[in-house]
Amino acid sequence: MSSNNAPNRKDFPADFRWGVSTSSFQIEGAGREDGKGESIWDRFCSEPGRIRDGSNGLVACDHYHLFPQDLDMAKQLGVNAYRFSIAWPRILPNGRGAVNEAGLAFYDRLVDGMLERGLDPWCTLYHWDLPQALQEQGGWTSRDTVAAFLEYTDVVTRRLGDRVKHWITHNEPWCSCMMGYWEGVHAPGGTSLADGMQACHHVLLSHGQAIPLIRKNSGGAKVGITLSLHPISAASDSPEDLAAARRHDGLRNRWFLDPLFGRGYPADTLELLGAAAPKVQPGDLNDIAAATDFLGVNYYFPEMVADDPQGSHSPMRARLVDREGVERTGFGWEVSPQGLVDLLTRIQRDYNPAVIQLTENGSTFEDVLTPEGRVHDTQRLSYLQRHLAALKQAVDAGVPVKGYFAWSLLDNFEWAEGYLRRFGIAYVDYPTQRRILKDSGLWYGQFLNE
Ligand code: NOJ
Repeated sequence: MSSNNAPNRKDFPADFRWGVSTSSFQIEGAGREDGKGESIWDRFCSEPGRIRDGSNGLVACDHYHLFPQDLDMAKQLGVNAYRFSIAWPRILPNGRGAVNEAGLAFYDRLVDGMLERGLDPWCTLYHWDLPQALQEQGGWTSRDTVAAFLEYTDVVTRRLGDRVKHWITHNEPWCSCMMGYWEGVHAPGGTSLADGMQACHHVLLSHGQAIPLIRKNSGGAKVGITLSLHPISAASDSPEDLAAARRHDGLRNRWFLDPLFGRGYPADTLELLGAAAPKVQPGDLNDIAAATDFLGVNYYFPEMVADDPQGSHSPMRARLVDREGVERTGFGWEVSPQGLVDLLTRIQRDYNPAVIQLTENGSTFEDVLTPEGRVHDTQRLSYLQRHLAALKQAVDAGVPVKGYFAWSLLDNFEWAEGYLRRFGIAYVDYPTQRRILKDSGLWYGQFLNE
């Protein structure tokens, strides 16, 4: 199963963190159980035409009930860390105010289940399932949602802070804000650039303001944020394309990294945004730059960019161009292990974080369950092996990456694509809810147990 250039666990530092990654809405199901409130994703799924296969998250992988077997599988694989997220509407069904004890009790069981199995819980507070009640008041475009997030964070970290020692405030603000409030493809389906930018600002602000709270409630915890970042290159060496690549990088990467690392919003990007730039109050940038313990990076693919003088694709006057003749995943995303090396070395060079955690990396391909009950996902296996080899290259080059979390343990609800895209290293047979480790999962287990 493994190819000649497959990496070996022993090539990595002994204290390297090996994990799998999941998120609440994508796997839990139990959408209306035990007092859970409606989330923006429940609402979005109920609107015709939003989800490609017309599905929703009401049952998903039924992880809410089947979590013991999922944790068993993670333990069997040999990972030492398990990344999950909390469904805010399970805890505060109306977004603020009344706390739902049954929701907290579920995460108690889940976290205890991890600890019993020697899995270190890595908890993401926000992986996109905002309570719908808060959306009615503007969602992330409203500054009040920052206060609501702090209330939610306080409740969760007071309850779990004794056992959870790794916290991620937000997962991929680009997606929750820009795809959700500007591009209209994710919940809540907004289509205003100004709203997207304002939402990003509030999400970043809520991150920074939550940090002291998490530290207070969870002594000795390590806290960070996870960004989706892309290495970006120009489609040609022309000064126009090179400038477009720089502009695109401004919105896609620097917009998040610069303020988190204390530099404020990038001036060139602000200028291009013009009236769509967010409203920022005195002190906000200082809060956003609160010291963290690690930067979470999700890496999937690189982007290539050409000049777009009309600005018909983006306010950055840049358009994405497909590199020709390259391998692509089922999503059409370019497969580029080298992109991971480029991205990590760039982050180190430009921002120098003390610790980077690769909180997601993975791929989707068509999977076939054979009559023998196997899934020979050779492309995903090769993707995994080559990205681990690239990771080793980055570690050897001195980039302070300390952990790798495969996305995902299970096939799951892939947002606007519904269940059409499978990212799991374990196959989920949805009609029976049976889990079957794919060849990629079997290999990851071998690698971890070497
Ligand atoms: C990043 C997101 O965090 C996750 O929810 C999603 O399923 C994967 N990318 C794959 O698209």
